[in-house]
Amino acid sequence: MKDLVPSPPPIVHNQFETIRELFTKHVIPSYGRFEIALSHGAGSYLFDVNGKRYLDLGGGIAVCSLGHAHPAITEALVEQSRKVVHTSNFYYHEPQGRLAQALVNLLGPGKCFFANSGAEANEGLFKLARKFGHDEGRFEIITTANSFHGRTLAGIAATGQEKIKKGFEPMVPGFRQVPYNDLAAMRAAISPATAAILIEGVQGEGGVTPATPEYLLGLRRLCDEKKLLLLMDGVQCGHFRTGRFQSFQRILEGVQRAAAEHTSPKNCQQAAGSTFLPDGLSMAKSLGGGFPMGAFWVRAPYADLLGAGTHGTTFGGSPLACAVGLKVMEVIEREKLEANARAVGEFLRSGLQQLAERYANVIHAVRGLGLMVGVELAPEIPGLPGDPGKAPAVRFTNLLHAAGVLVIPAGGQIIRLLPALNLRRSEAEEGLSILESVAARLSPGRPAAANSSRG
Ligand SMILES: Cc1ncc(COP(=O)(O)O)c(C=O)c1O
Repeated sequence: MKDLVPSPPPIVHNQFETIRELFTKHVIPSYGRFEIALSHGAGSYLFDVNGKRYLDLGGGIAVCSLGHAHPAITEALVEQSRKVVHTSNFYYHEPQGRLAQALVNLLGPGKCFFANSGAEANEGLFKLARKFGHDEGRFEIITTANSFHGRTLAGIAATGQEKIKKGFEPMVPGFRQVPYNDLAAMRAAISPATAAILIEGVQGEGGVTPATPEYLLGLRRLCDEKKLLLLMDGVQCGHFRTGRFQSFQRILEGVQRAAAEHTSPKNCQQAAGSTFLPDGLSMAKSLGGGFPMGAFWVRAPYADLLGAGTHGTTFGGSPLACAVGLKVMEVIEREKLEANARAVGEFLRSGLQQLAERYANVIHAVRGLGLMVGVELAPEIPGLPGDPGKAPAVRFTNLLHAAGVLVIPAGGQIIRLLPALNLRRSEAEEGLSILESVAARLSPGRPAAANSSRG
């Protein structure tokens, strides 16, 4: 009998079930995963184990800055691993020094520390704030509602979302949240124990909400007045994603230009010279293009606060990580990906805006900067398939996955597009068409426009 019924050819074998079974049995179930097992990728495309192709507009949650399997990253990994992978931070090595120099050149006078993730980079900023306020008994860091700062104990205490904290109380003391983009609330919250303020330039997990220029400039003034550190979490919105190296540079562009145009030559010089800077900034995600790494930069006056023995990590800033980080920056500069993020991001957002107008029953609003885009779904989408116990954003994401596009849900109503910085306009167009076909299916009597006005 065995001979008469040969095993099916491998193509019929459902690898997905096998892989999911491994997870069910052996992996801690802390994620609600989508029903996809990925196998490999190229550029902005990913392929699952059954051979289905997806346009990746999620970018591994803003990580894969150069897309998948970029030859420059492979080359950096191979070249550096032939020399040395790891040394420990007891010794000097060139890649860490050069990467720190490159980041400082993009930000301003200061110094960098290298870690392995965004949460760890933020931990460094928390310790900086505690050290800064220590001798005066100040330790408190004020953060904002709907923020996200990582999953460590201090990270969840800093995060402004109850669902992230739930079940892990008591929280690490010294963190309080106030509404975002509300300067008066921030001012009112400052106490004699406050040492620092921490915000995201564009809230990511909270639904892609950029800070206003007035908020950023107001926080800077407030911190100077009250002698507080102004800390920024650039983990998701940083590394050229918004069309400038850091989101605050992009947000304040117009303001600085206006100041220069409308003031006397003397003031104009002052305006140009007094460019906004936070006192500390965390980075991760796109920094390593998929290789896990994080970093924080500290502005010059405070750059030596964390002296020898006060902070450390075994793996952070390894020669391998820093060689990849340097290569990612080299490619971003060579291929002008800062400008690409701005142009393709603008194209994507205006296409989505058109979809929001055409399918208002599905898409309520579109926001973001560069290639950090949030699509807010309509409060009720009649006919949205899927488990009604699941958030609309997750159910909509499932539809997009089935149609061949990967996106990232944020909260209950928002999907995020955080693609590779080298996403092509043609790929953005493909994503828009797929999104439109899904929106049209949810809009009886309103078929997808044959090839809408995008062009
Ligand atoms: C703004 C922000 N900060 C911190 C983190 C935590 O980074 P990681 O997951 O690398 O620890 C994230 C992750 O999504 C983030 O978006």
